[in-house]
Amino acid sequence: MHRRHFLAGSLAGLASYSWPKWAIGKKNGLFPLGVASGDMTSGSTVLWTRLVADLMQDNGGLGETDLKVAWELARDPKMKDVVQRGEANASHMLGHSVHVDVQGLLPGTEYWYRFYTEGEVSTIGRTRTLPVGNVPSMRFVTTSCQNYTHGYFVAYKHILEDDPDFVVHLGDYIYDTSFGETFRRHDREEAPRSLEDFRRRHALYKTDRYLQAAHARLPFFTVIDNHDAIEDNNPEQYDLRAAAYQAWYEHMPVRGYRLGSPNEFHLVRLINAGDLLQINMLDTRQFRDKRDLCLDNLDKAVGFSNYRERCGALLEEGRTMLGQEQEKALYQSIRENRAQWNVIASSGPVLPYRVDVGGEDFGYIGSWDAYPANRRRLAQAIQDADAGHALILSGDLHSFWAMDGHKVTDTADKVPAEEFVSSSISANWPQPLSEPIAQNLAKNPHVSYYDGTKRGYLLHDVTASSWRVRYRAVGDATRHDAKVEDTKVFEVIHGQQGIIER
Ligand SMILES: [Fe+2]
Repeated sequence: MHRRHFLAGSLAGLASYSWPKWAIGKKNGLFPLGVASGDMTSGSTVLWTRLVADLMQDNGGLGETDLKVAWELARDPKMKDVVQRGEANASHMLGHSVHVDVQGLLPGTEYWYRFYTEGEVSTIGRTRTLPVGNVPSMRFVTTSCQNYTHGYFVAYKHILEDDPDFVVHLGDYIYDTSFGETFRRHDREEAPRSLEDFRRRHALYKTDRYLQAAHARLPFFTVIDNHDAIEDNNPEQYDLRAAAYQAWYEHMPVRGYRLGSPNEFHLVRLINAGDLLQINMLDTRQFRDKRDLCLDNLDKAVGFSNYRERCGALLEEGRTMLGQEQEKALYQSIRENRAQWNVIASSGPVLPYRVDVGGEDFGYIGSWDAYPANRRRLAQAIQDADAGHALILSGDLHSFWAMDGHKVTDTADKVPAEEFVSSSISANWPQPLSEPIAQNLAKNPHVSYYDGTKRGYLLHDVTASSWRVRYRAVGDATRHDAKVEDTKVFEVIHGQQGIIER
């Protein structure tokens, strides 16, 4: 039967649909994108799904009618011990996505969940609330940069085997365009130009079996980076950016989006794991001042187009990467931290990287180097923190890095924290971008490790006295049988500056 006829027929019955008489079907035809959870606190979690009949049709082929979705949450994987159930509206205005913010849960506890609609049932997902009080250890991963055209997201197969408590995704969850050599095709070559374009792109990504399996088994915390949305905070791009953010929200287990206020999406949130760690997840995209200044003086051949020596405007004290409101909240959170580890998660690297080109000194990696005053304020907040060892986690560069901010040679750019940069799930790291980094390591004594040849992720094992991070390199992402190995293992001892190789 044609999907539209099926829906028209069954919608007539919706008025008499009375929960909790479950209309359980055997198919998951309206749930081809799977399920997900995330943004957990000690007592809550966000459950996500999106109803889709046809991935490539506008509004997922479901037209302009809202659908009712029932959900249930249980303490066991067989869904026998159900502790909460309810109904949610899958609004066509939000692409028939469903976000259920379940409250009143126990801390540090695993739960399982599923959705029902139109006689169909989703796969069963697992989620886990954050712990409180004395927390002896946590395990989690940082990932970023999954380009569909460059390979499978097979890294998630290994992440699942590593069995972390949760995933911190540092952005570039989708790619607007491809680059370099490609392995599988996007839904279209050109960058998305509308809400429906962005929906299709997200839906395509969610069909990757490894990504979908990871979402079903592991809760995620996620931030946006340049390929998810728009590079710059440019008013001329606000409509397009609003479409990108809406589609992003529609496909992510997150809170905080309000339809009709597209440029006030406050994603910033704090991961609190008892006395062990806090992680401030930063939004470095929505509220930043314009990045590309002094365009006349830019040499596009040099990295990511920052050349601050010739650009006085980049050096202005008032310049912000995070926006004033986020800066204020972040510094308060850092200063008032009580946990052992005081962590900042930024899409792009916070610490600087200098390269020498033709005898001239350039800032290279283009992230916080374009906002030095903001980085100084961040460094000051870390300096002023009541407690906790500061660490920075970042991604964006499709390569593995380990850096010690205490060793930055230029005093104005020092940040009293170690930084671990995870590589990409699948996105390539072109040689022309990698080469200037490899050639300038001696100029950057704070970088103790750089490898631009490997895909992968970071696996963090945290206790009160030690932060151990395994650099998990995944072989050829175009192969389902790609293997994983530790290319490096580093440790930071609580209260001691520096990174120790293990
Ligand atoms: Fe990326």
